[in-house]
Amino acid sequence: MITGSLLILALPLLVFTLAASSVLWRFYLQQLEADIAAQALLMADTVAPSLAAVATGHLPDGAFSPEAIASRWRRRSDARITIADARGVVRASSVGEGVGAPIDDTRRPGMRTALSGRSNATVWRSPNFVNEDTMYVNVPAWYGGQVTGVVRVAHTLTSLRKRVAQLRQTLLVAVLLYTLAIGLCTVAFAASIVRPAERLQRDAERIAGGDLSHRVEVRGPEEITQLARTLNHMTSRLEVLEGLRRRYVSDVSHELRTPLTAIRSMAETILKYGDSDTSLRERYLPRILTQTDRLARMVTQLLDLAQIESGHYVPALTPLSLAEVLDEVALTNAARAADLGVALDVRVSDRALSVRGDRDRLVQVFMNLVDNALRYTPRGGAVTLSALSTRGHVEVTVADTGQGVPPEHLPHLFDRFYRVETARSPLAGGTGLGLAIVRQIIESHGGRIKVTSSHGKGTLFLIELPGASPSPLATRSSNPPTTESQE
Ligand SMILES: Nc1ncnc2c1ncn2[C@@H]1O[C@H](COP(=O)(O)OP(=O)(O)O)[C@@H](O)[C@H]1O
Ligand SMILES: [Mg+2]
Repeated sequence: MITGSLLILALPLLVFTLAASSVLWRFYLQQLEADIAAQALLMADTVAPSLAAVATGHLPDGAFSPEAIASRWRRRSDARITIADARGVVRASSVGEGVGAPIDDTRRPGMRTALSGRSNATVWRSPNFVNEDTMYVNVPAWYGGQVTGVVRVAHTLTSLRKRVAQLRQTLLVAVLLYTLAIGLCTVAFAASIVRPAERLQRDAERIAGGDLSHRVEVRGPEEITQLARTLNHMTSRLEVLEGLRRRYVSDVSHELRTPLTAIRSMAETILKYGDSDTSLRERYLPRILTQTDRLARMVTQLLDLAQIESGHYVPALTPLSLAEVLDEVALTNAARAADLGVALDVRVSDRALSVRGDRDRLVQVFMNLVDNALRYTPRGGAVTLSALSTRGHVEVTVADTGQGVPPEHLPHLFDRFYRVETARSPLAGGTGLGLAIVRQIIESHGGRIKVTSSHGKGTLFLIELPGASPSPLATRSSNPPTTESQE
């Protein structure tokens, strides 16, 4: 990324530098040519009369001789002056070269062209000056309408080249320094992002490795601190879940062990003393059966609960008549209620009342609630199932006139394995899982469950289910039941 951005930055600057130095070079060259041409023109005008005199042999008053002009320019180091007459014979040279000889255009171009009346300028690499470009400007000397000779000014381009090269070098150094500075800034910036990200990754690996108590330091750029906070939040939740899982496993083990221990000790007693005391069999075998039933029920309920809680359970929601469900539950429990001397009634305000739900699961819910109500209601009491519709919801209540639940137990009633009194005849078969399952089923239907109870007077479970019509139905609600205080 850094290399890429630097290239993008540096390349245009480099191209610009090269283009600028080439433009400058051409500009300087034009300027030089104009300068030299002006000088040459001036000299040609000055020397024209004396060149005209070469033919007549008479030098007019105040005319400068070619020698005088050439010697005046001798002091200028990088300009060389050559003056030839109309016949093409060199009359004077600032470097004292080839005087008296005819001009030689193979070595110094353009002089003969100027003799025919045309000024010209060329850049030429003279064999005399190795590797040194020279600009030649040839100007005809006019006098009395005649070309009387030619003045040539030669100027090497060495110093010009040096100047442009220096400029280019300065620009290149500037580009280099600039690119370097930007590069360093980019590296520093990238490091400020990458280093915290690497730190975060190490932390995440540590947490993934099982160290759930580890927390990430919240430091660095905004994006990183946000990520760190999220990671910490996630880790906290994992830690809580891990704690719940441990507690769950230990609860389950404990709950399974109690009946197993009882079964084992009763079986052992029968085995040891059963022959001598035959009444032991009659006493213990039914209890063994009851405990085995309870164990089996517990396992079934645990599997049920696990299935519902796994999140894979989505109730098959179909519109169904609530009255029918409640009637079925009442009918199934009618004989038992009669045995117990408890009145079991169904009161539905509207027979057409319907909800969307999984029929079997809803039957399971009310079976559980009625089972509890019958169990904790003494002879002569009443258990009432009722339903009414309110604001798109359907409210179902299961009320009894039983012993009730002491208020301090109410917040825990829906917890797994929670029973108000553990001493309350374990042989009666309670597992403490029934209400946990009830809550899970109701919530998976997008409903809610509440419990109110007054000790000694009775208990009331209130269930709120989404109605079947108009049917804006949540498949899964996150609302906890009101009495629930944890998880
Ligand atoms: N209608 C009720 N009246 C009094 N106590 C109740 C009633 N329903 C539930 N409980 C209490 O809540 C506890 C949990 O009920 P539940 O989860 O169904 O377990 P279980 O019925 O297997 O004991 C019961 O043990 C009981 O103490
Ligand atoms: Mg129960």
